[in-house]
Amino acid sequence: MSDSVLVTGATGNTGAHVVAGLRERSHRARAASRHPDSADADAVAFDWSDDATFAPALTGVRAVYVVAPAGAADPVPRVRPFLETAAARGVRRVVLLSSSAVARGEPGLGEIHDLVTDLFAEPTVLRPSWFMQNFVGDHPLAETIRRAREIVTATGDGRLGFIDAADIAATAVEALTATEPVGGDLVLTGPESLSYPEAAAIVSEVLGRPVRHVDVSTAELARRLTAAGYSAEFSSMLAALDERIRTGEQDLVTTTVRDITGRTPTSLRHFLAGHASRLASSP
Ligand SMILES: NC(=O)c1ccc[n+]([C@@H]2O[C@H](COP(=O)([O-])OP(=O)(O)OC[C@H]3O[C@@H](n4cnc5c(N)ncnc54)[C@H](OP(=O)(O)O)[C@@H]3O)[C@@H](O)[C@H]2O)c1
Repeated sequence: MSDSVLVTGATGNTGAHVVAGLRERSHRARAASRHPDSADADAVAFDWSDDATFAPALTGVRAVYVVAPAGAADPVPRVRPFLETAAARGVRRVVLLSSSAVARGEPGLGEIHDLVTDLFAEPTVLRPSWFMQNFVGDHPLAETIRRAREIVTATGDGRLGFIDAADIAATAVEALTATEPVGGDLVLTGPESLSYPEAAAIVSEVLGRPVRHVDVSTAELARRLTAAGYSAEFSSMLAALDERIRTGEQDLVTTTVRDITGRTPTSLRHFLAGHASRLASSP
């Protein structure tokens, strides 16, 4: 009987919360990772670069949470064969993690959005704004806060609706388990729209030390990301997303998290206060 939910990216920002949220509700969650936890009987080996891991991971699975491989400028060649395998094995429900900055049909995640919608009977596409988790952990934004007390972007004063990955995951759990499919193309944000200069002021308050916003050109940001170790192609793609914030296109606040989960999405101030030690030093 197919009763499990396969969670890709299960060790990541949203996936770890999706696994925990499913299990809290007594659903079987198969936690997919390149390094599955040997203490977890429902963990499964999975590698987007190795097609041979797809079918075993999909055994007994009725729904899938899809986190495309991070760091790949074009994830489509890796994700397409996986989705085709899942559809051929009778999976009906898929929840895709995409991005508010990538509309259906656009290169990369937008093409995967099309694939999920075309291949599955019960597709839901989550399109969150930028994650609050980028301010802590190993994201380049977090690294420059710790090292230089700076937030470097190419966004100017453009605003965006930062969101806690836990709120995205709660929405995903609902979409994976609701009796009636949630469906649709869902733009998810936190409770307010903030510019990076405003976010820097909140970070400064929480840290008790000044952190300044440094506005650079898109080309300069791409150069800095490449110097930090990202591929040139991925750096250009990430930097170009900042332009969408600069133009005001991402100045959005939606009520979708609350509408679907009933929970109040976390504010940036509340999130950062809960992660103050990780703002100051490496995790
Ligand atoms: N960060 C943002 O602000 C933001 C905003 C909107 C949308 N998004 C989207 O959210 C997604 C997740 O981004 P994230 O930075 O938060 O990453 P993440 O989910 O924290 O981490 C990446 C996850 O992917 C897994 N992974 C990486 N390479 C893999 C591979 N070859 N095979 C199998 N699993 C692999 C890792 O698992 P293992 O290491 O355990 O294998 C890890 O669990 C991306 O698609 C991104 O475009 C991000």
